[in-house]
Amino acid sequence: MEPLTSLDLVVADKQAIATDIVRLVLRHAEGQMLPDAEPGAHIALDLDGLVRRYSLLHTGPELDHYSIAVLRTAQSQGGSHFVHDQLAVGDKVRVLELAHEFALQPDAPHALLIGGGIGITPLLSMAEHLQQQGQSFALHQIVHDATRQWPLAPDLPAQTHIGRSSLDLPGLLAAQVPGSQVYVCGPAGLVGAVRAAAAQLGWAPGRVHSESFGAAADASDGPLRVTLVQSGLSIDMEPGQSLLDALLAAGAWTGYECRRGVCGACLTEVVSGTPIHRDSIAPALRGHAMCTCVSWAEGPELALNL
Ligand code: FES
Repeated sequence: MEPLTSLDLVVADKQAIATDIVRLVLRHAEGQMLPDAEPGAHIALDLDGLVRRYSLLHTGPELDHYSIAVLRTAQSQGGSHFVHDQLAVGDKVRVLELAHEFALQPDAPHALLIGGGIGITPLLSMAEHLQQQGQSFALHQIVHDATRQWPLAPDLPAQTHIGRSSLDLPGLLAAQVPGSQVYVCGPAGLVGAVRAAAAQLGWAPGRVHSESFGAAADASDGPLRVTLVQSGLSIDMEPGQSLLDALLAAGAWTGYECRRGVCGACLTEVVSGTPIHRDSIAPALRGHAMCTCVSWAEGPELALNL
């Protein structure tokens, strides 16, 4: 985490670039240059009192703007709706932090970038950097439908796949040169499929780098009984299930946006139990809460203030 003690920027541009996705360009009101950002970085924004995190679409030194993409989510606590419906060109926004937690590994012979849905965003800055450096890489985006695809530059070594079944992950990974590194960002199922394909090929786990939406299961996870202390509900869960999805299915009122442990919208206070944090929220900001979209707990019991 960079020691960024907040930075006030102005919305210089706002454009719809795909169904339910807008791109914002943020600049300093007086034209000052912005702090350097590494490929894969994200920023935390104060959006009318809500803290939300978004990957930077472009990174590097000597940045005169930050650009981000925001997906409108159906069940939002307000962050994406605020951006889509209220935030306008000329409005001020405050950047609370600049974080580098999904970073490129230096000196790899090839980088394979795989983005599911809005998960393509951190990979765009990685692709831009690798292209500028003349390094070998390929970018694959997977979207549910064609209206959600990112408009990729024609000179980028990139492919778009409509529907996950249109991408043969085992075949793709098997075709990589030895020592290739994979960067995947998207739903937990996609991240899990990439990790499984890599494991089957005998790749060391450290060659797969990920940010996921949803539960990120680990082989050591055990079953959980989750008690919601306000509503009195108990939910029995198996490893690999999404705590957030289970809460929503049980009718608990909880918000979410990114589903990948970045925005903080799903932070829920832990009453008892020991969370296994798999988000990228700074511990000081997280406090006694956990991100239910990606995290699990040591079990067998977890109690949440819902
Ligand atoms: S939904 Fe964004 S951190 Fe959980």
